Amino acid sequence: MCGIIGATGPIPVAKILIEGLERLEYRGYDSAGVALVVEGGIWRTRAAVSTVSMKSLADAVVNAPKVLDAGVGHTRWATHGAPNERNAHPHSDCTGKVAIVHNGIIENHAILSSRLIEDGHNLASDTDSEVIAHLVEENLRDGSSLTQAVLNTLKVIEGTYAIAAVRSDEPGTVVAARNVSPLIVGVSEGASYVASDIPAILGRAEKYFSVADGQVVTLKGENLQVDVVGEAPGELMPLEVSWDLDMAQKGGYESFMLKEIDEEPRAIADTLRMRGIEAIEMFDELNLDPAVLRQIDKIFLVACGTSFHAAMVAKYAFEHWCKIPVELDIASEFRYRDPVVDGKTLVIGVSQSGETIDTLQALREARRLGSHAIAVANVVDSSMTREADGVLYTRAGPEIGVAATKTFVAQVAILEAFALSLAELRNTLYKSETELLMNELLTIPLKVERAIARASEYRSVAKEIGDSKDFFFLGRHVGYPTALEGALKLKEISYLHAEGFAAGELKHGPIALIDSSSVVIGVATRGRLWSKVLSNLEEVRARGARVVVVANEDDTQTAHFGDYVFKVPSTHELFAPLIDIIPLQFLAYDLALQHGNDVDRPRNLAKTVTVE
Ligand code: F6R
Repeated sequence: MCGIIGATGPIPVAKILIEGLERLEYRGYDSAGVALVVEGGIWRTRAAVSTVSMKSLADAVVNAPKVLDAGVGHTRWATHGAPNERNAHPHSDCTGKVAIVHNGIIENHAILSSRLIEDGHNLASDTDSEVIAHLVEENLRDGSSLTQAVLNTLKVIEGTYAIAAVRSDEPGTVVAARNVSPLIVGVSEGASYVASDIPAILGRAEKYFSVADGQVVTLKGENLQVDVVGEAPGELMPLEVSWDLDMAQKGGYESFMLKEIDEEPRAIADTLRMRGIEAIEMFDELNLDPAVLRQIDKIFLVACGTSFHAAMVAKYAFEHWCKIPVELDIASEFRYRDPVVDGKTLVIGVSQSGETIDTLQALREARRLGSHAIAVANVVDSSMTREADGVLYTRAGPEIGVAATKTFVAQVAILEAFALSLAELRNTLYKSETELLMNELLTIPLKVERAIARASEYRSVAKEIGDSKDFFFLGRHVGYPTALEGALKLKEISYLHAEGFAAGELKHGPIALIDSSSVVIGVATRGRLWSKVLSNLEEVRARGARVVVVANEDDTQTAHFGDYVFKVPSTHELFAPLIDIIPLQFLAYDLALQHGNDVDRPRNLAKTVTVE
């Protein structure tokens, strides 16, 4: 939800900002802009990205005057104010000597902007963020430094923010601050950087630090000064970054989404670390005593979107292997429904970004109510990982494509590995059983690779059915979350009507929608409800729908139940979603391309949603 970047030092600031913004586009792409400190003032260029591409921003920057070693940039996902150039960041003050970029929401912006207008300020946008520039302007009037002016500004703004500011009278300086919205700092010889996320500055910085809530960091070349508001720590926390630059770049692929689908085998392998069955103690950051885990009598899984579907798969696994009742909640609903949790409840928030506000708030609520709360997250040091009691990291590498792909399989893999370890700890499975299952789980990367090798088959089926406007995804048991995830992928990048259903539920209403123009995709790999799924597919075929079956490659019977087949390797039924999702991701990808859509930047979406 918006990405910010700042750079300082004798470096090609403008180029670094533009490249960083390109890598931050997954956080929003309604508009983008940069502000550079130049001789005599601040030079700004902004563009509504739907009309003017990032490339034209780059072209504009070429004509900027000589940059005095500092600048900031922003890519926006609109919340307050339409996604046009006027509302694009960086915002400036009345003097034009200050520029700020902001990610977050200034909750008291209405009161602040009325007051500022009364005092003669000229507010040029409809955003909540612009007030920050004018407040900094006021706080500079007594001769304060930019750092002091930002510190004073933070005393009056309420809400969430990651801010970076520059001032023409202080060349070579960027001041940044954080409250809730993510912010990291990187340093290399002679230069330093600040950004919403690591990919923006990968390959540039040698050391990384995370900025804590309440810290204000002044960056000047390689020097960092930390000031604090309230109780914040006085030191930056070093961040260990194992991602490399290739991971944050397309590397010859036509899109990040395609690259990330290709990376799924490695994402699963890295997440499982291929170490075989792990005792609970081996989950590095879990931070929960085995004695506590033995006592847990209920699990809540809370998440949004794709992560919710991964959590849904995990519910089947925890209940089957661990015999613990599991409740599954859409995170935005959890804290508004009086969930019954206590000290014997484990609440697991599942999130790629670790920043989704709905899931973060659910975890906070869980802790407030006295339960144990852990986060499954892909981004190291994200808000959830800091606020939860412990973390299960997926190690999928940065996911830039807005549609989640490799992180879905990584989430399923880590949750299932955890469920197996928990089952062993609680003696609900024999060690020999968990070992067998874990060994099967460890074969999944190779099987996913085999499925990906069939991409051209999947994509040719997509061509056959690309004329349809209505897609129904059916599955039962863990095939149900697979169906939901297949439908979500299709709708978010192809903008076609797609719905996922528990196949047995169709006859209770939705079957009325089926006619000869419908395409039905049935997840029919072998599992306990395989034959029932086939009956459900017969029901839709009888009503004229064209049917595609996802079937095991060694299964000679199932293909006959469909007009087309997506063949996939077979595995234990609880691991099947890790493989069965692959053709559905390719289907969504291909239909999006057929409709001329930008798969990495689907309309209206941002990868990280930090507003309720
Ligand atoms: C779908 C997608 C979203 C996210 C959801 C949660 O492709 O990316 O549905 O899954 O916004 O995001 P995280 O996992 O970051 O909490």
